[in-house]
Amino acid sequence: MKRIVISGSGVYTPPFAISNEELVSAFNAYVDKFNTEHAEEIAAGNCEALQESSAEFIEKASGIRSRYVLDREGLLDPDRLCPRLERRAPMEMSIQCEISVAAAREAMAAAGKEAADIDAVLISCSSLERPYPAIAVEVQQALGIDGFAYDMNIACSSATFGVQTAADSIFRGNARAVLVITPEICSGHMNFRDRDSHFIFGDVCTALLLEREDVCQRKDVFEVVDTKAKTVYSTNIYNGFGFLNRTMTDNVDSQSLLFRQEGRKVFKEVVPLAVDFIKKHLGEHNLQPRDMRRIWLHQANLNMNQLIAKKLLGEDYSVDVTPTILDTYANTAAAGSVICFHKYHDDMEEQDMGNLCSFGAGYSIGSVILRKIALR
Ligand SMILES: CC(C)(COP(=O)(O)OP(=O)(O)OC[C@H]1O[C@@H](n2cnc3c(N)ncnc32)[C@H](O)[C@@H]1OP(=O)(O)O)[C@@H](O)C(=O)NCCC(=O)NCCS
Repeated sequence: MKRIVISGSGVYTPPFAISNEELVSAFNAYVDKFNTEHAEEIAAGNCEALQESSAEFIEKASGIRSRYVLDREGLLDPDRLCPRLERRAPMEMSIQCEISVAAAREAMAAAGKEAADIDAVLISCSSLERPYPAIAVEVQQALGIDGFAYDMNIACSSATFGVQTAADSIFRGNARAVLVITPEICSGHMNFRDRDSHFIFGDVCTALLLEREDVCQRKDVFEVVDTKAKTVYSTNIYNGFGFLNRTMTDNVDSQSLLFRQEGRKVFKEVVPLAVDFIKKHLGEHNLQPRDMRRIWLHQANLNMNQLIAKKLLGEDYSVDVTPTILDTYANTAAAGSVICFHKYHDDMEEQDMGNLCSFGAGYSIGSVILRKIALR
């Protein structure tokens, strides 16, 4: 049986960064204005005063210090607090297609692959710019790939589930090589007026190239040893911004339909789910977490990841095993662990094992066991 390998990865990082201080300053200017404008109602007890946000709280509660975004100006305008992106005509390249192509080209270059070597494109991410035509088909055309493409979405686990789907397609003989691309424009689904969550997300796009070992050009690659996916329904992380909104007769403010979560509950419920799942998956291959040279954890919250790392690896675990990127990228939904993989794999030796994992909305949990191998 031919092995399936990850032979290339790419990351598109947007050109603008926003620090906690800058984000909080814009948020607090909005709070100040709101409270001033509603001073009389607040004094009369008819309206609740808004509370300020704090950069110290954000870093302490989440480990996030900064995030990359596609637009700074609109997002930091206290009167808008929302990115400002240009609408593109149907014949122009969509935003998600543009950033996907950038990440995909890097992954293809790393793998030494041309469009003609690739048979499928999966766009697998939390939010899609439009329902159809699929962004994946647009990316396929932009890259000049002859084959098939489709979009898939399972929120924070879109990338790991995408790897599973790609590996299955290759295994079944439906494709020689597949691009799994995760364009996460999280600033589009954030309510930047919500103190509990305005700091959480950033924008990015990642790409992974999976292929059969016998068509692979590159010698040092990662064998996909196994993949495992699990979902357990929960509304603790919720985005109700769907296409039926305009048909609803209750006049709900569309801002309230954007991302929201019960952060504490998610923390409490997802940590044991993720730990048990990873241990179980590794156990099926007679492996222990400590056998992993690297665990590329989902990047939502640093405290959460430290707890997961301790539960998997013991109190004395080395931070080198579980690298962090959320301090500079923030939570990038499904892309987080792939950014980690992209930035932290070059130092791994032949036969070193790794685990790429994700956990989040759905709930969804994905685990991909990888082994660094040298192809002859
Ligand atoms: C979201 C998260 C960072 C919040 O951290 P937390 O420690 O749970 O914070 P809480 O929401 O319980 O709030 C704690 C306090 O800080 C306050 N607070 C909330 N947001 C604040 C802000 N922006 N600035 C200052 N204070 C804030 C709250 O009002 C609360 O005050 P109180 O104790 O006086 O009631 C954290 O729960 C988390 O990341 N959970 C995991 C979520 C996750 O993995 N999601 C996956 C999504 S892909």
